[in-house]
This record gives sequence, structure tokens and C-alpha cells, in this order.
Amino acid sequence: MRSDAVHRVLEAELAQARKRRGGQPPRVLDVGGGSGVWAVPLASAGCAVTVVDPSPNALATLQRRAADAGVADRITPLQGDTDALHAISPEGGADLVLGHGLLEVVDDVAAALREMAAATAPGGAVSVLVANRHAAVLARALTGRVTEALKLFQDPDGRLHDCAADTLQRRFDSDSVERAMREAGMDVELIQGQGVLSDIVPGSVLESTTGAAESLAELERLAAARPPLRDIATRLHAIGRVGG
Ligand SMILES: C[S@@+](CC[C@H](N)C(=O)[O-])C[C@H]1O[C@@H](n2cnc3c(N)ncnc32)[C@H](O)[C@@H]1O
Repeated sequence: MRSDAVHRVLEAELAQARKRRGGQPPRVLDVGGGSGVWAVPLASAGCAVTVVDPSPNALATLQRRAADAGVADRITPLQGDTDALHAISPEGGADLVLGHGLLEVVDDVAAALREMAAATAPGGAVSVLVANRHAAVLARALTGRVTEALKLFQDPDGRLHDCAADTLQRRFDSDSVERAMREAGMDVELIQGQGVLSDIVPGSVLESTTGAAESLAELERLAAARPPLRDIATRLHAIGRVGG
């Protein structure tokens, strides 16, 4: 797997799950897993992954990717949505439940999180990755789209209602994602940022300045869990523990 802050935390989580399960492959449930951006590397790292997604096209791409990576036997694709998790999650619950890029598109965030918590084995974790509303404002302001930035800032859901290109139903901030997870009964152990500065620094700087890419990677690592920089990251990552 890659080695940004999110991947590092998930690797540690999976190592713990492997220990709890006496060396057996950790069971991962990837809700809204789409075409397998997370599922395929996790299967390659030795996990048994169930992907639940309503989109047949995404699941077909997932199956192609899994076959290309030689891990089709470790991935179970299921067409369904958050409402169906109780019927399809692994017996005893999953060690790790992912909801990456999911809470921005579901109709009912609270219900989705409750279903995800219920599908998690005691002691297991829910990993949530969401778009950050403050980063969306900043990105628009920095590229001169200040009217959009203002509308986004003022909108209660952090979205642009009159812009067809904005396909999300909502964006989050560190407080709102933490609150939503707590209300679903999880202990929130970590909130960190993914893409704190790397989405702001121009690529040309990284190419033309010796050592810049390494410095940026180190800066990302150090800033990921440290407010206030954490709170402007492009995506916010939260780990919720389910009663053990
Ligand atoms: C932005 S993609 C994220 C894909 C992947 N998790 C990732 O991080 O790259 C959102 C996915 O959620 C799926 N989705 C939308 N509504 C859903 C629901 N109610 N339950 C489960 N998945 C849903 C979509 O089909 C899509 O594949």
C-alpha cells in the first residue's frame, strides 16, 4: 500500500486485527468501495475484502482490477447499499469497515454510520474518509473563484446547489465528522487530514526544486494529525472504534 497518513493508520489497524484473529486474514468490508481503489491494495496486502456498492459498472471495473492484480479470490463484490449491510456483512462482523468517499453521497449519514458500526466486529474499527468543506473553499479562493468560495462557505452542507459539477450532497469539517461518528455509537480515536498541503503546492515546484518532494512528504506526515493544518486538508480521515 502507499504510505501516506491514512495508509499508515490502516496498516496498523490491520496488523492489530491479524493479531486478534491469530494470524488469519483480516476481514474488511468496503462500503461504497466502487471500482476498488482501496479494496484491491487491501486484498493484495492479504485481507479478505467484501465490497458493497450499488453501481454495477463500478463492480465490473473492480472485478477486472482484482483479476489483473491476481487477487480476485480475496474480493467478494456485492451489489447493494448501506441499507443492506446487516444482511451481507461477514458473520461476527468485519475487523475493519471502510466508508471512503461515501458519506458525501448517501441520503442519510446517521443511518449509514449506524449500519457500518453494526457491521463491525467488537473491537474493530470504522474508517471514514470525507471531503473537507474548508479545503473546498480554500481551493476555489486560491484559483480566483471567490464567488463560489463564498457560496460554499455559507452553505450549511458545504456544497454548491446551483453547480452541476458539484456532485456531492455535503462536505464535512473535523467537528461534524467526529460528531456524526460519536452519535452512531463509536469512540472516535483519530481525526487526521489527507492532502494537507500536497494539493496546494504546485507540481512544478516539486519538479524543479531539489529535495522539495521529500520535504513535502515529511511535512504532510507531521501536519496530518495537527490542528489547525489538519483542518484544511482536502480530505478528513476518522477512525471510530466499535465496543470491544
Ligand atoms: C466517490 S465513490 C468512492 C469510491 C471508493 N470508496 C474510493 O474511495 O475511491 C462513492 C461510491 O459510493 C457508492 N454509493 C453511493 N451511494 C451509496 C450507498 N447508499 N451505499 C453504498 N455505496 C454507495 C457509489 O456507487 C460510488 O461507487
